[in-house]
Amino acid sequence: MTSTNSGAKPSLLRNPANAPLGKLISFYVRFTPSYSKIGYHARSLFWGSLRPDFRGQTWLVIGGSEGIGGSAARSAVAAGARLISVARNAEKLTAFAQSTAHPDQVQKEVADFSLRSEVWALLDRLQAQGVKIDVLVNNVGIQKRDQIITKEGLETSFVTNILSHYIFTREALSRGLLADNATVIETASGGMYNHPLVVKDLNITGTNTTPAYLGVRAYGLSKRAQVVLTQYWRRKFAGTGRNFYVMHPGWVDTAAVGRSMPRFRETLKSVLRSDPQGADTIVYLAAKRPPQTSDESIWFDRRERTAHIFPRTRAATDTPETLVASLDAYSTRP
Ligand SMILES: NC(=O)c1ccc[n+]([C@@H]2O[C@H](COP(=O)([O-])OP(=O)(O)OC[C@H]3O[C@@H](n4cnc5c(N)ncnc54)[C@H](OP(=O)(O)O)[C@@H]3O)[C@@H](O)[C@H]2O)c1
Repeated sequence: MTSTNSGAKPSLLRNPANAPLGKLISFYVRFTPSYSKIGYHARSLFWGSLRPDFRGQTWLVIGGSEGIGGSAARSAVAAGARLISVARNAEKLTAFAQSTAHPDQVQKEVADFSLRSEVWALLDRLQAQGVKIDVLVNNVGIQKRDQIITKEGLETSFVTNILSHYIFTREALSRGLLADNATVIETASGGMYNHPLVVKDLNITGTNTTPAYLGVRAYGLSKRAQVVLTQYWRRKFAGTGRNFYVMHPGWVDTAAVGRSMPRFRETLKSVLRSDPQGADTIVYLAAKRPPQTSDESIWFDRRERTAHIFPRTRAATDTPETLVASLDAYSTRP
């Protein structure tokens, strides 16, 4: 996830390898103890054992054939859940299903969440099957170095990281695909801490725009949008049996990190988290459904954390409602 776009300031949270030495040192000093497996091990000393029982539940995990989503999905199956795993590559899905404790409990669904048409088609298939989802994990997320416009004319990371999550959740709710007491979990990223909500910059498709497209910013903005969208759902469904959470996994040694942040991975590989460590908070939230004191929080290592560590990210003029109005406008079926 290393961006080389010229003339734009890199985000330290997602692009530490490009930062000046002083900032680089303060970046690693500040975040490594917490986001690496050091933080995970230190915090887990105070956790009781988690023996989840998901028997009778149906989970749907988007981006559920490897990495963090794959690990959460594997834990769900091991704890008795029926799983619908969504990803693009059918062979990888089959190999993943075979690697779980109960391959017969895994339904494989091929869909590319960078394309609205495939999200809508998946919704139709699931509706025709009469699926009822108890736990929905909106986990799929990508960071691109270069601006890639989909054949539907939208910027890829915008659709994959936030728009498709919104369409899927909104439609699953309105079509009755989510159980009355369903849990919905968004996988965000610490990369969002660097950004306020800026709705107008979520989908930059032009070439001579102000600001210019910067992959690392597009990623951070969409991750911030996931946090705000969760706040919207929590308010809308407050007092019902449904629970909406957003979490971040810390720094996890997944295929995505190796592909898109090779220098970051090289520097930190000895302390990056394993997939199960990154997925732990997803499993915890689904198992415990803990109360949340603030509707804007993000969960990390089994605890509710602030959604803002820099005061400047609170200074957004956009709101959950302006975000949702914009996502609605993009959500039409192609
Ligand atoms: N790894 C980290 O350190 C880290 C840190 C912070 C946040 N996160 C967040 O955690 C989430 C998972 O990341 P990860 O590192 O586990 O990724 P990963 O290892 O690349 O796994 C991605 C999963 O998503 C699927 N996928 C990718 N693109 C897709 C698309 N367009 N449509 C449908 N499925 C797609 C992949 O299968 P196919 O390739 O077959 O589609 C795979 O199952 C992301 O939201 C990421 O932003 C990760």
